[in-house]
Amino acid sequence: MGFNKVLGLLVFLISSYGHAGVGAPPAANACIGCHGPSGVSASPLWPNLAGQKEGYLSKQLQDFKSGQRKDPLMSPISLSLSDQDISDLAKYFSSLK
Ligand code: HEC
Repeated sequence: MGFNKVLGLLVFLISSYGHAGVGAPPAANACIGCHGPSGVSASPLWPNLAGQKEGYLSKQLQDFKSGQRKDPLMSPISLSLSDQDISDLAKYFSSLK
């Protein structure tokens, strides 16, 4: 592989995994403003997600999406998440410390 290809791959990886931690799904960039880049929230009003159980996180996101659970901030955000996003996000945040 030539240098430019390696560089291109690196740029691609860095830009697609952007601002959340390494291994974060791209959808996580929409969450870190409130829940923090490492899943530890910046405000006492916003829950920490890091280390929460995967099954719990995916259930909460599905509940926000279906309207079972309502929050003026989370409900609209959850509507843009696919089931795949939800499972990736739940896996990612549960893996953080
Ligand atoms: C604008 C700020 C904001 C953004 C952006 C945001 N959240 Fe939230 N989130 C909140 C607030 C506030 C709550 C608490 C809602 C409540 O009190 O019911 C919450 C709750 C949650 C919960 C439930 C936590 C628990 O302990 O019950 C999960 C899971 C969650 N958010 C995941 C996400 C994910 C994943 C994203 C990105 C796709 C995201 N949030 C983006 C503000 C935000």
